[in-house]
Amino acid sequence: MQYNKVSETQIKQFKSIVGEPFVIIDSEGMEAYSHDYTEDLRYYPEVVIKPRTAKEISDILIICNQANIPVTPRGAGTGLSGGALPIHRGVIIAMERFNQIIDIDERNFQVTVEPGVINEALQKAVKEKGLFYPPDPASKGSCFLGGNLAHSSGGPRAVKYGTTRDYVLNIEVVLPSGDIIWTGANTLKYSTGYNLTHLMIGSEGTLGIITKMVLKLIPMPQQTLLMLASFTSPEKACEAVNAIFRAGCNPSACEFVEPDGFRLSSKLLNIHFDIKEDVEAFLLIEVDGNDMDVMMKECEAISEVLYSHDSSDVLFAQSSEEKEYFWKIRRSIGEATKHNNTYKEEDTVVPRAELPRLFKGVKEISKRYGFRSVCYGHAGDGNLHVNILKDDLSDDFWNNELDAAIIEIFELCKTLNGTISGEHGIGLVQKKYMNIVMPEIQLELMRRIKYAFDPNGILNPGKIF
Ligand code: LAC
Ligand code: ZN
Repeated sequence: MQYNKVSETQIKQFKSIVGEPFVIIDSEGMEAYSHDYTEDLRYYPEVVIKPRTAKEISDILIICNQANIPVTPRGAGTGLSGGALPIHRGVIIAMERFNQIIDIDERNFQVTVEPGVINEALQKAVKEKGLFYPPDPASKGSCFLGGNLAHSSGGPRAVKYGTTRDYVLNIEVVLPSGDIIWTGANTLKYSTGYNLTHLMIGSEGTLGIITKMVLKLIPMPQQTLLMLASFTSPEKACEAVNAIFRAGCNPSACEFVEPDGFRLSSKLLNIHFDIKEDVEAFLLIEVDGNDMDVMMKECEAISEVLYSHDSSDVLFAQSSEEKEYFWKIRRSIGEATKHNNTYKEEDTVVPRAELPRLFKGVKEISKRYGFRSVCYGHAGDGNLHVNILKDDLSDDFWNNELDAAIIEIFELCKTLNGTISGEHGIGLVQKKYMNIVMPEIQLELMRRIKYAFDPNGILNPGKIF
């Protein structure tokens, strides 16, 4: 696709739409917008625009659509698949000024919110009213809700409560044509034609720009219990995961971590984390609810499963500080890996009972190709993040040979009836692997949907396919 450059005249038009301070064209000002959290990729746009209203975005899109200028929507830039990178330059629309929680409707258990609100800020605001917004990506302290919708982000609690997708009722979207629509209704049920709300969720900014959303809330569980189980055999830890559910338990988090994950994050956070020498895997398991006796019983049942899978130690967090400490170390693994070294992060996902085979296969592939992999993630969802570390591997291996290993990992996911991304999306860096899990006809259907929304292909071009 050939795109046009942004002209002086268009810059002036953008300034008159949003106001001069909200149009950035100097490279120093654009630096923060030239990368997200994906590897060390960097692409500068020609201009960053920070609108405040859907109408302003509409006006900008009309100009870009007519002039064939690429537009990349951007949330907080915490994405891990390169979705917010302006690979064809053009315009970045930065959503940071859409930062209002418009209305918490306690009567209907829903909230109307703008996409530039930070996930955790929403969680805190609704918690004050005894309400709960469960989706909790690892980056919840900085990621925007708009980005969460764009990827249907998950997080530890998805195992019990589902991903972002399960909490979105209705979305206001600006289409590339400049039209502003609501995709559905503010209802818990929706059987009214094609579901455009769900089409928009996970579309990674390629179909429209989200300017408002109505999200579902549920009652806040009052208590949590958190256990950390150690294993000398990571395969046994993986097997324990499915057994926990088979025993009738329903934990609110069930995370797998290889010791190197905790080693890296405790190093980054500069805190002590004791790891016994023979420990090869951890499961971090949370149970929530309102009745402590019931929760304790569930934890006992889980402990039984853990010990019967040769867990060497099951530790209960003794205070809210200790819970916070475990979660902090867990949530920092991704960031710690990035700080440590050049790396690639894969977001493999398989049906839960296939997790042991996925883990074993990944380790076999990493051994055969000779790279170090640190696996961790949402084991209860069968969602294993595979961090591949460059360490002292040659550039030649990294650039030319590693790809064959990644393809093998994704082919394994496919064989196990899984797929190549559970929650990080396809964006830029995974799109070349899409054909592993999708036949051409399916990709073509997606291209046609894209065409229906964005015939000129101006919105986040070069992503997904
Ligand atoms: C996590 C992010 C990387 O689970 O998805 O830590
Ligand atoms: Zn994750």
